[in-house]
Order: sequence, then C-alpha cells, then structure tokens
Amino acid sequence: MKTIIANWKMQLSLKDSLELAKQSAKKIKAGKNNVVLCPDFLSLPFVGPILKGTNISLGAQDSATADRGALTGEVSPLNLKALGVKYVILGHSERREHLHENSALINLKIKAALANGLVPVLCIGEKMTVRQAGETGELLSQELTIALKGIKIKKASDLIVAYEPIWAISTNKKARPLGAVEADAIHGFIKAKAKKILKQSVAVLYGGSTNSVNASEFLAQENVDGLLIGNASLTIKDFSSICSL
Ligand code: PGA
Repeated sequence: MKTIIANWKMQLSLKDSLELAKQSAKKIKAGKNNVVLCPDFLSLPFVGPILKGTNISLGAQDSATADRGALTGEVSPLNLKALGVKYVILGHSERREHLHENSALINLKIKAALANGLVPVLCIGEKMTVRQAGETGELLSQELTIALKGIKIKKASDLIVAYEPIWAISTNKKARPLGAVEADAIHGFIKAKAKKILKQSVAVLYGGSTNSVNASEFLAQENVDGLLIGNASLTIKDFSSICSL
C-alpha cells in the first residue's frame, strides 16, 4: 500500500475546500492506497466530519513546537489531534523559504507532533543550484540529520519523509518532475540515511509536478512509497484517478 497525500496549500476558499472534500469523500476509493487530505487550518474542522466514515485521513500543513504556550498565531498539535487530524506536513519548502523555517525548528515541531500522536511528514529537498553543484546528497543528509536529531519512533509508520526537489514543485518557474528512475535512487539514499538515524525504515514519498499522467511511473518504483501532491490534488478527476492507481 502506498500513501497519497493531497497538499491543498492555501489555494482554496473555505467553500471550495468543503466542496472538494465532499467530492473526495464520494469519488476517492481509498483502501488500495492510504489517502490523506491536508486542507488549510480554517477548513480542517469542517473537512473532518465530511471524511468521517470514509477511508480518507485528515492531515494538517504545519503545527507548533509545543502543545500550548505564549505562541501567538501558532496551531497546537494537541488541538489538531483533538480534531481528528492524523498527519502533519512539516518543513515544507514554502515554509522554509517564506517563513524562514530551518531544520532545527522543524526538529522541535516533529517532536511536538509525535508527542501528540500525529504522524509528521517531514519535507526535504534541494534547490536547483544545489543539484547543479552535485551537492544533493549532502544537502539531504544534512536536512535529515538535523530534523531527525534525537527523534525516537516506536514503529516505522510513526513518521514519513517526503522528498520534494524544490525546483520540481509545480509553482516554481520552469518546474518539471524529476525522472522516476532517478527518484527511486534518491529515495533509496534517503531511506538508508533515515534508517541509520531512526533505527526504523520509514516511508519516503515523492513530491513535485506529479499528475495523473506521470504518477504511475513514480508509484511503480520500489523505493517510492507514495506521493505528496499539490496542484493535481485540487482537481477531483486527477486526484481520484491517482488514488486508484
Ligand atoms: P506540486 O506541489 O505537486 O504542485 O508540484 C507539491 C508540493 O509542494 O507539495
């Protein structure tokens, strides 16, 4: 079973999120794959009840470094858990870039998420300049080492890594997906590194310009355990067809 996570980012109005959630509950045949929808925070409490009774899980796009405290504007992992959230995307490249999150901060967020029974989806990935310099492996190792420092998980399914080359994310200029065979090799590298740190073999998802045409190629790769999907998760036709692959 592979895991398919929809990252709706901040792309939808509340009304559109609820509509897409309703269509997803009706059209997505989860079961073959583990399907997760990550709406924005304000939509979460309304999307949760729509997904009740389906096999689709609820995910959030971020969470705070602590359960509670003087953290104006932050969102508590404790309260996400209370809303029925199972997964939380942490360290997405858009947050690293626009909100200056670094791996040390993401490490604290992972710890707080795990302490509250959420499954962190740790995002890592390199910029094109790093790729061109031949330093992708080094960068990914560094991100994993810092973000996973001191993290203890009980079982493999307690944490997921998502490899998203930043240059491949569809909203970036000249974005194009990584080749599926190269993705497989990089995923193998990430798995080995994560296993060394965590002493557990966790799932590694691919993200970056995936769609209903190329998804099957990625999912066919041994080391690609699923997909983190932005743009193509916003259209029910595309997303439901990927989920049924
Ligand atoms: P994309 O986004 O599928 O639109 O490239 C992926 C992501 O940013 O998580």
